[in-house]
Amino acid sequence: MKPTLSIDGPRLYASLQALGEIGAYEDPYSGLRGVCRLAFSAADGAGRRHVVAEMRAAGLEVTVDRIGNAFGRRRGTNDALRPVMMGSHIDSVATAGRFDGCLGVLAGLEVVRSLNDAKRETLRPVVVAFFSEEEGARFSTDMLGSAVATGRIPLERAYALRDPAGRSVKEELDAIGFRGDADERLTPPHAYLECHVEQGPVLRAANCDIGVVLGVQAICWHELLIIGKSAHAGTTPMSLRADAGVAAARINVRLREMVASGRFGAELRATMGVIAPHPGLVNVVPGRVVASVDIRNPDDGVLERAESELLLFYEEVAREEKVTITHRQTARTPFVPFADTVRARVDAAAEARGLWRQAIVSGAGHDAQEMARVCTAGMIFVPGEYDGISHNPRELSTPEQCANGGNVLLDVLLSFADEAEGA
Ligand code: GLV
Ligand code: MN
Ligand code: MN
Repeated sequence: MKPTLSIDGPRLYASLQALGEIGAYEDPYSGLRGVCRLAFSAADGAGRRHVVAEMRAAGLEVTVDRIGNAFGRRRGTNDALRPVMMGSHIDSVATAGRFDGCLGVLAGLEVVRSLNDAKRETLRPVVVAFFSEEEGARFSTDMLGSAVATGRIPLERAYALRDPAGRSVKEELDAIGFRGDADERLTPPHAYLECHVEQGPVLRAANCDIGVVLGVQAICWHELLIIGKSAHAGTTPMSLRADAGVAAARINVRLREMVASGRFGAELRATMGVIAPHPGLVNVVPGRVVASVDIRNPDDGVLERAESELLLFYEEVAREEKVTITHRQTARTPFVPFADTVRARVDAAAEARGLWRQAIVSGAGHDAQEMARVCTAGMIFVPGEYDGISHNPRELSTPEQCANGGNVLLDVLLSFADEAEGA
């Protein structure tokens, strides 16, 4: 069926640029303007206030829950029916671009503005949401806000999480004025839709406009504390050392070997993103290292095997390097498939707009995977330039790519928002 309504693409892009100015910094390596809005930082607070103001300007009634998730609601003609929700996150990693998460929130808002402009009512209420600390880049567990809203993580456990400087989620939510009073347990919406940048090279390389997201791969994070013995780099014989830096390096190399061996298939992803030696000086053997491990795979069983092998390797390295290694599993989510109905409607909407599309599994974690536990949920991906680089200031999707995602979001939103069954 031919779509009768479209979003305002330039308005959507302008709103992405405006939000991208909040928490902007000059990246010293690329010379580009990046974004740093770590969860519950002052910049995140400013970003949140900006988006809430934009929600209110679009006529939405805004509520904030006890974990800081924000929901802007537009009335339906039958307002008692469960709403259709569009959302994502506006917190960022410390070296972000302007699109990750923000596209899903601002495309949702743009859909609402376009409905308003056209005086288009919907049977069901429509909600635009942003969830807290999706990145896990500050409090070390990802999808925190949506995991609390859907019951995977209890509120008190979330409140007690601390950042590397020792500040708690609860304190920092209070500091930015976003510890709301709405119940943190979300009443499941009729459906949840999230538009997002792919954050990878697949769609762009295939010349596709839209990714029909099949699901999100399984993710496992460890935080490692490696304790050795600090010593003078020139005077301490090698045989007397307990070098925590060497232990971390061996684990990092093992991750690469696990991938290269093929024993875990072709799709194991493995990253040591944090390697922080103490005291971090040229002439001191590191006595302590804090490190992280991120492993992912679309197959739960494969990820489980990889994690078990790693745990044994930590013990081996600890023995051989005369260090202690303690690990904490800070995040663990299984493969999450998205609803067939959403996948089919995304595909049909893209086809009706003459867009090229392909099915894709998400390599990144998303709030939609948490929502999928409680309601019909799914995602729409748009391609990114430069191999889809993300978590980096170079992250870029064009105005046209973003508008395509917004239009498909609009079409799928309307299909759910006007249906009465399953109320
Ligand atoms: C979230 O961006 C992730 O790490 O997948
Ligand atoms: Mn994201
Ligand atoms: Mn991200």
